[in-house]
Amino acid sequence: MNAMTDTRGLVPAGRQPADKISLRDVVVEFASRDMRVRAVDGIDIEVPSQSFTALVGPSGCGKSTVLNMVAGLLKPTEGVVTYDGKPVNGPNVRVGYMTQKDTLLPWRTVEDNVGIAFELACRRLPKAEQVDRVREIIELVGLKGFERHYPSELSGGMRKRAAFARMLIYEPETLLLDEPFGALDAQLRLIMQQELLRLVERRRMTVILVTHDLEEAIAMADRVLVFTSRPGRIRATRTIPFERPRDPVNLRFRPEFGKLYEDLWNELKDEVALGTETGLGK
Ligand SMILES: Nc1ncnc2c1ncn2[C@@H]1O[C@H](COP(=O)(O)OP(=O)(O)O)[C@@H](O)[C@H]1O
Ligand SMILES: [Mg+2]
Repeated sequence: MNAMTDTRGLVPAGRQPADKISLRDVVVEFASRDMRVRAVDGIDIEVPSQSFTALVGPSGCGKSTVLNMVAGLLKPTEGVVTYDGKPVNGPNVRVGYMTQKDTLLPWRTVEDNVGIAFELACRRLPKAEQVDRVREIIELVGLKGFERHYPSELSGGMRKRAAFARMLIYEPETLLLDEPFGALDAQLRLIMQQELLRLVERRRMTVILVTHDLEEAIAMADRVLVFTSRPGRIRATRTIPFERPRDPVNLRFRPEFGKLYEDLWNELKDEVALGTETGLGK
């Protein structure tokens, strides 16, 4: 079962341990009414520490399901999910998870949404430091001046930033991002991508990003995994050879970018055409 020990034993001292996250032979089935739905079927994913992995695939292929397992919110029906080499059993407090839905509390201001970590006693800091920390994070995501605003008073992009700030306050070493920029207009999306990458590179975070935007996947990630339509399997894996730190906007003008896009699109388009639910259009 533990296939990691032998390779791990060979890693020279001082190097990063091999995998932050791994999924091995993972199957997930949901019982729905009188039938069982197989969401993912035999998935193997290895995510090295401090790497950036993007998951793309048609809607309903199990991308969110994968993130839920890494976050410890869902157990695989078969197979093993590990974090730092240990099986994930219950909520994984090492990860920050931005789910697909906007989960800001509408009756709380931005600063009270961001500061919720302290009330949940997940982080213990003296009150004055808590306030400083909340201000600092709000400034980091570009929401300075909006601390006392309610979610309904913010644009979609600002709400995403607030949700992002709330995640960062936990200082997670790993980010699980489920279509974090889906609702944003094209320009804002690019700016958020730049900001996210800067932060991830500076803090050496490990990231799994789910996106339906192939350009976003190529611009941000070290590796892109293409899922088949449901039941989700890994159809293709591509390494993205661009340097770090990188500018995810300027990369798009490079000829290699277009080649990667074409290659990944060729993998993805069959799945989209075959899938019963088309989240991508044709
Ligand atoms: N809690 C659940 N109960 C029943 N079926 C579910 C549940 N969660 C997800 N599914 C089904 O599993 C499949 C994969 O879902 P999901 O991981 O959300 O896909 P994706 O994020 O790739 O769009 C879908 O067919 C979905 O309907
Ligand atoms: Mg999803």
